[in-house]
Amino acid sequence: MTNSQPLFIGIDLGSSAVKVTVAQGHTVLVRSSSDLTIQSPHSGWSEQDPHEWIAAAADACRRVVEQLGSNANRIAGIGLSGQMHGATILDADRQPLRPCILWNDNRSAPQCQTLEERFPALAMRAGIRPMPGFTAPKILWLAENEPERHRRIRHVLLPKDYLGLWLHGGLATDRSDAAGTLWLDEAKGEWDRDLCEISATDPAWLPPVFSGTEAVGALRHEAASACGLKPGLPVFAGGGDAAAGAVSIGAIQPGRGFVSLGTSGQLFLCTDKYRPNPGRMVHAFAHTLRARHYQMACMLNGARPLAWYADILGCSVADLLGAASRADRARAPIFLPYLTGERSPHADPYIRGAFFGLEDATSRAETAYSVMEATAFTFADAAESFGRTLDSAPHLLAVGGGTRSQALLQLIADTTGRRIGRSDGAEAGPALGAALLAAAGAGAMAETELARSPDVTLWLEPGAEDALLRSRLSRYRALYEALRPLNLPD
Ligand code: XUL
Repeated sequence: MTNSQPLFIGIDLGSSAVKVTVAQGHTVLVRSSSDLTIQSPHSGWSEQDPHEWIAAAADACRRVVEQLGSNANRIAGIGLSGQMHGATILDADRQPLRPCILWNDNRSAPQCQTLEERFPALAMRAGIRPMPGFTAPKILWLAENEPERHRRIRHVLLPKDYLGLWLHGGLATDRSDAAGTLWLDEAKGEWDRDLCEISATDPAWLPPVFSGTEAVGALRHEAASACGLKPGLPVFAGGGDAAAGAVSIGAIQPGRGFVSLGTSGQLFLCTDKYRPNPGRMVHAFAHTLRARHYQMACMLNGARPLAWYADILGCSVADLLGAASRADRARAPIFLPYLTGERSPHADPYIRGAFFGLEDATSRAETAYSVMEATAFTFADAAESFGRTLDSAPHLLAVGGGTRSQALLQLIADTTGRRIGRSDGAEAGPALGAALLAAAGAGAMAETELARSPDVTLWLEPGAEDALLRSRLSRYRALYEALRPLNLPD
């Protein structure tokens, strides 16, 4: 490629940071990120201030523009990706009425029960049983608990689409983010009136639904100057982080799958059509590109417990993983990683984390190992939920920040029994996917090129039967069952 080739920016509004990637075709040129904080004013609550997203996105964009120097002139479009399911409620002036209620917020468990009672067929139409992370039960919670605010709602946007509103001034979402609200008829790819009605939602509040490669607006002057970019650049719809992560590794064809290790964990499989499997809390959602669907197990705690524990110990995640490698595995406690409850496979908003089996000789190394191992165990549970369906994937690629640890990927291969591949650019994940959707939307690459699989630079083969690991996995599962009743509300 010559250096007159257009470049595309992917902005991924993550949970812990806004991550920005600039790519030329599939090649990542520069990346930057700007941290975000999550507020948890009550147990089970998880919120973010939408204004923080804007400041962080502008900051991260300015930094990539600086790194690019004169090449920044080649930027030809922006694609969006972001944490899914968050309820950003806006008034008639399009101002946020409160902090966004995030994907890992668990306050609306009672409303989920109401939704199921009101519409027992919900899971088959919306792709998954109601769980508190999704958007619809949050709006019902607002109707019942913050009626003044609920009365003033005129728009509901997903997080990346609120950022989009600031960038281009329009109301829009893409199929995959719409899919995670519980208001979308997944098979038809359209908002569903029944699903809106049972959740105190006026369909007029919801934005039009686009395919991820469609242009939804042009960069506003004010946003352009905050980001250091040219006004008028086209902004493309992009995708929720699961779907955009999929695009980053070509998972837009049936049988392509991946594990994602971000704040959340995802086990994703692209399917030939809408295939609901609500029994085991496997999500069946519309993909960002038309006529495509996927199945996904989503674990609320992904790689987050590693960052959480490193923070408590006052060390880096790399140091934590270093300590884990020195652990006496046989004497390590069992850790339950459910810091914010769990979605797949337990649908349990009440469970919390625990160390079990601490003894006098337990050191930092053993506890660090337990936390890392528990991350892998969540993927073992996810793989089990898929059952034979997962056999359609010859291997799983890995995306997200957690892929930096080879030891963790190896444990995931061992506990799931799946071959895992890591490629260059794997860490960029959804931000790269968003840039690729923009490139395809702008005509700089054919949509068929989005199916390109990256070159794998590291393969992790499932190891030989490890009796210790097997027994620890069954104790981990038994520990959850034992602790579950203790966390239920009175
Ligand atoms: C997917 C999910 C999370 C968030 C945050 O269903 O809830 O992966 O998108 O990453």
